[in-house]
Amino acid sequence: MSAIAVSGLRKSYGGREVLHAVSFTVETGEVFALLGPNGAGKTTTVEILEGYRARDDGDVQVLGEDPGRAGSSYRARIGIVLQSSAVYPLLSVQEIVALFAGYYPSPRRPDEVIELVGLGLQRDARVRTLSGGQLRRLDLALALVGDPELVFLDEPTTGFDPAARRQAWETIRDLRSLGKSILLTTHYMEEAQRLADRVAILRAGEIVGTGSPRELLSGHASVEIRYRRNGSEVVLATEEPTRVLHELTAQALADGVELEGLEVHRRTLEDVYLDLTREEAE
Ligand SMILES: Nc1ncnc2c1ncn2[C@@H]1O[C@H](COP(=O)(O)OP(=O)(O)OP(=O)(O)O)[C@@H](O)[C@H]1O
Ligand SMILES: [Mg+2]
Repeated sequence: MSAIAVSGLRKSYGGREVLHAVSFTVETGEVFALLGPNGAGKTTTVEILEGYRARDDGDVQVLGEDPGRAGSSYRARIGIVLQSSAVYPLLSVQEIVALFAGYYPSPRRPDEVIELVGLGLQRDARVRTLSGGQLRRLDLALALVGDPELVFLDEPTTGFDPAARRQAWETIRDLRSLGKSILLTTHYMEEAQRLADRVAILRAGEIVGTGSPRELLSGHASVEIRYRRNGSEVVLATEEPTRVLHELTAQALADGVELEGLEVHRRTLEDVYLDLTREEAE
């Protein structure tokens, strides 16, 4: 059974439709990334799946339940990091994690979760004294303390420093290795490429690409070779960079010239994303 199955999902705000028949599935035990520009509809989709917003049309099944009708037992099976959250500023990290643990039938130990997200040194700090990145880590702790089967992470690493981001990736990989399913959104394409088993790319409420990062990268020439000749840029796209570079450099050596600004770039998920989400020229 899929962890999430969405089919023909539609949502309007005040008569303006922002999700146009969105369909995708997330398999159990998979990390799935929902990508797309600001306003594409990621948070709207995620909050419908969480049961926080009503949909207008379409079928949605999450852990075999309809989140539009599900009750508190459903809430206990999912963990949530909202895009922006505000928690009690006067409580300490330890107190708030323990408070949230109390809402769930079989929570993880608060101390263990605080360590897991790297807030061990801030255990007794009041929430209002935490930095932006530390607050985000607390959000992650609160999503995990209920030991959920499925975790929704809406931009979980926004504002993280590079080391904290890598630590969060490890945490997410650990969750997957425990058999949990994860739906995340992110604007960091490297994060999606490193972490996600599959991604879906939303553009203005429609899915314009879906598959594993590798699948999305295939079908395009995978390497670009760039250099300048007489001041203008030359770009060669190829599947055979070794041969093309060899020929190019051999010719340059024979001619006794330097290939100005020579660069070799392997296409990444970010290149595919930018191609798929580019605004069409009017
Ligand atoms: N409560 C609301 N009332 C009216 N319009 C809304 C509401 N929430 C979102 N929208 C609109 O719906 C569209 C999708 O918004 P959404 O927050 O889902 O985008 P997103 O993909 O999460 O963007 P971001 O990357 O900036 O978080 C936007 O045009 C937004 O203005
Ligand atoms: Mg959003």
